[in-house]
Amino acid sequence: MTGADDGWLNALIGLMQSAQFALLQALAALGLVEASHGQPGWPWPVKLSGENLLIDGGQARRLAGSLAVLALVVFLLLLAMVWRRRRVAILVAVPVLLLAAPWPDAHVVWVPATPASFHRSPSGFTVRSIAQGQALYAQHCVGCHGADGRGQGALADARSMSPPNLAGPLLWRRADGDLLWHVMHGMRARDGKATMPAFGERLRDDEAWALIDFMKAQAAGETLRSTGVWAWPAALPDAAVRCEDQSARRLASWHGQRVRIVAPGVTQAPPLEDPRLVTVRIAPDAESALRDAIGCVVDASEAADAWAAFALVTGTPSPAGTTLIADRDGWLRARSQPGQAGWSDDDLLCRTDAVPSGAQPAVVADGLGALIARMDAQPVRFVKGGFVH
Ligand code: HEC
Repeated sequence: MTGADDGWLNALIGLMQSAQFALLQALAALGLVEASHGQPGWPWPVKLSGENLLIDGGQARRLAGSLAVLALVVFLLLLAMVWRRRRVAILVAVPVLLLAAPWPDAHVVWVPATPASFHRSPSGFTVRSIAQGQALYAQHCVGCHGADGRGQGALADARSMSPPNLAGPLLWRRADGDLLWHVMHGMRARDGKATMPAFGERLRDDEAWALIDFMKAQAAGETLRSTGVWAWPAALPDAAVRCEDQSARRLASWHGQRVRIVAPGVTQAPPLEDPRLVTVRIAPDAESALRDAIGCVVDASEAADAWAAFALVTGTPSPAGTTLIADRDGWLRARSQPGQAGWSDDDLLCRTDAVPSGAQPAVVADGLGALIARMDAQPVRFVKGGFVH
C-alpha cells in the first residue's frame, strides 16, 4: 500500500495502462496483431508496468520528470514548425533536453509481457463461473496448490519448486491475462525446467477464466479468515436475481448503488429494507430460494452456486447468518457476522488504515450510517497490477 501522496502516481499508472490498451486496440483494428485466446495479442515481449513504481517512489518521480520533458519536447517541435526564425535553436534544444531527462531505469518500467497481458476476463465474475472454477480446481490443481491455495498440496513436496501462495498478493499483482497465459502455457524456471504445467490442451479459455475467478474468490476468503480483513479488494460476485414483482435481473445491474447481501441464519429475522442499500437475499438451495418471496432473492437456478461463492469469499464453510455490503463500485467492503446486532464502522474490512487492535467497537446510534459514510469516503482505487484501497 502506498503513501498519502500517491494521487499523481495512481493517475500516471492508470494512464500507462490505458495508453497501452488503446494502442493494442488500434493495432487490432488495423489488423496488425494476431488474436490469442480470443482477444488481440500483445505483440511485444515487454510492457510498461506501474508495479515497480509503487515500490520505488524515486523511480516514479524520475518517470514523471521524463514525461514532463517529453511533453515540453512535443511543444517545442510544434513551435519549431511555426516559428521559423528560432527553428535551429529550438531543434538543438530538443536532443539536449532528451539527454538531460531523468529517465528511470529500464528494468523498473519495462517488465516481461505475454501475448495475453492486456486481456480482460469475459467471465463477469459470476457465481456460475466461480462454481465452474471450483470444480476444475479440485480436478486439476488441488494436488499441487492445496485445498486452500497456499501451495501445500500432496504433489507439491515432490517438485523442485514449490507452488506459490495463491492466497497472497500474487493474484492481485499479476495482470489477469498473464495469469491466464501461465495457466494455459505453463511456467518455466530460469534453467528451462517446467515448474507449473501447461493446461492449454486440457482446458478451454472460458474454463481458465473460471479458474481465475475461483482462485480470486478463494484468496479473498483465505485472507479474511487469516487476517480479519480483505487485504486486497474482492468484487461482489454476480448472480441472477428474482424480485417480488417477478422481474428478473442480475446483481451487477445495481452497479452504482450500494448492495447488501443477506444470507439468512437459522434464527435471525430478515433485516428491514433500508433506502440506503439494495437488499438481496441468498439461499442455501433452490427450494429455499423459491420459498423466499419478499423483496429480491437470488434466482433458484443459481442459489446453490451463489451460496458456495459467498462461503468462499467470506472464508467460511457456510455464509448462513452473514451480511455483506458492497460499495457503489461493486467491491465487497463490510461484513457482519452471525449473531452480530448492529453495524459499526469497524466492520469495514476493506479499508485504508489498519483495524484498531483490541479497541472496542464504538457503539453509535446509526452504525450503518457511519459505516456507509466511511465506505463512500474511501473508495477502492485502481492501479495497474493491483488496487489501492
Ligand atoms: C504439478 C504441480 C502443479 C499443478 C498440477 C498446477 N500448478 Fe500452478 N503452479 C505450480 C508451480 C510450481 C508454480 C510456480 C511456477 C513458477 O513460478 O515458475 C505454479 C504457479 C501457478 C500460478 C501463478 C502464476 C503466476 O503468474 O505467477 C497460478 C495462477 C497457478 N499456478 C494456477 C494453477 C491452476 C489454475 C492449476 C490447475 C488448472 C494449476 N496451477 C496446477 C505447480 C502446479
